[in-house]
Amino acid sequence: MEWKSQAPGSSYFYYPRLVCVIGVRDEAKATTNFAPVAWSTPLSSHPPLFGVCLSPATYTHHLVLATGEFTLNFLPHSQAQLADALGKLSGKRVDKVKTLALGLESGEVIATPFLTAGYAAAECSLVERHQFGDQTLLVGEVLRVHLLAGCCDPDGVLRLDRVPPLLYLGGNRYATTDPGSVTRPDGAASS
Ligand SMILES: Cc1cc2nc3c(=O)[nH]c(=O)nc-3n(C[C@H](O)[C@H](O)[C@H](O)COP(=O)(O)O)c2cc1C
Repeated sequence: MEWKSQAPGSSYFYYPRLVCVIGVRDEAKATTNFAPVAWSTPLSSHPPLFGVCLSPATYTHHLVLATGEFTLNFLPHSQAQLADALGKLSGKRVDKVKTLALGLESGEVIATPFLTAGYAAAECSLVERHQFGDQTLLVGEVLRVHLLAGCCDPDGVLRLDRVPPLLYLGGNRYATTDPGSVTRPDGAASS
């Protein structure tokens, strides 16, 4: 087998990754800003903690530190163009809600709304931040979760046949999952 070795950082070898769009209030401009991140992860179940890695150069980074709260928004594959547009524009210069005619839903616990274009959203309160190299890990406590009706089975598992999630491959390429690939090692019928 032939292998090609290269410096880290020059390939997307740990992708695909689920796209997560961070929503955050911009009080000064009376709007909400949204930016996609590929680097996000659940960190704890009890308490429910979720981490997102943001470059301090993003406007979203500045806004999360200013407000202390944010929403997580998970999009279906059909919203690849929206994710791409949100990642090309900066809220420093553009009101993305107006420019992209985004539909918003009010949260129940925090002031930041979530995207109606998504199939799942979570309201988070910023509880910690850590600097790692050129990124900040912003840790949010998940206070409330909103799921589009019918998107999950009774176990809370995403129905891939109903909601193909948006995966980012790197560069300007996106993908999704094959619902036919769902396997149940216990032999139960997969949904
Ligand atoms: C699919 C996708 C994933 C991205 N992932 C990240 C990420 O994990 N961290 C980050 O800092 N920026 C990431 N970006 C870039 C930001 O979304 C981009 O810089 C955006 O314009 C920031 O907007 P803002 O300045 O309004 O905050 C990603 C962009 C795209 C399109």
